Amino acid sequence: SPADLLVTVDAGRLQRAKAEGLLQPVESEILKNSSPAELRDADGHWYPYTLRARVILAAKDRVKAGEIKTYEDLAKPEWRGRLLARSSTSSYNQSLLASVVTAKGKDEAAKWAKGVVSNFARPPQGGDRDQIKAVASGLADVCISNTYYLGLLLNSKDEADRKAGEAVTVIFPNQDDRGVHCNVSAAGVTKHAKNVPQAKAYMEFLVSPEVQKMIANSTYEHPVNGDVTLSPTHESWGKFKIDTETLPKMSESQPEATRIFDQAGWK
Ligand SMILES: [Fe+2]
Repeated sequence: SPADLLVTVDAGRLQRAKAEGLLQPVESEILKNSSPAELRDADGHWYPYTLRARVILAAKDRVKAGEIKTYEDLAKPEWRGRLLARSSTSSYNQSLLASVVTAKGKDEAAKWAKGVVSNFARPPQGGDRDQIKAVASGLADVCISNTYYLGLLLNSKDEADRKAGEAVTVIFPNQDDRGVHCNVSAAGVTKHAKNVPQAKAYMEFLVSPEVQKMIANSTYEHPVNGDVTLSPTHESWGKFKIDTETLPKMSESQPEATRIFDQAGWK
């Protein structure tokens, strides 16, 4: 490919691109200082420019504060018939399960996935926004979603979207242990890039405070640069602890995650 840059989402995908020799290392103090070391490639083959936090959203009027605190809680019997999530074909769910495999081991992860499936209020369908809308309409009490989909609903021009967003509250899971599962939007310079300095400059541009703020206020993904002023939406959600333990092993755990989804019957 004549491309100089690979810009994509999902750390697992970037880890595979590196393993297949599609990327080259980039040295940059700006990029190094822009994000926690655990959330980028140790050899500089790719750097994140935003974080995508996968959280639990709960109906404000039906779930009490503290009633659900962890991803593990999602598998508990008290949530039977009260939970929604999209299909396991979504890379967001694959990376979430890969993080559970890394954190808990494959047997615990398999039990977890089974428990989650048995709690579904309906078979997986639609995207994250559809789960939020369904919780708002009373079909279920909690769902799994990336925060930016809630951000998009809350800032939508459509009043029905805003109402759906306002019906749920964000629960950042596992704040007393490993933290919230976050995936990345990231970029890396391709192996055969002809314009390496320009590609590197573009990556540095993406993590500049101005661009980070712009992204935060349009896509509602989380800036990797903790120093920037976030959007009012992010400020209302508050700060949270990120799971930095499991992300580096995402591509290793993903094949196991796929098997577990099949066994659990998570469509
Ligand atoms: Fe998305």
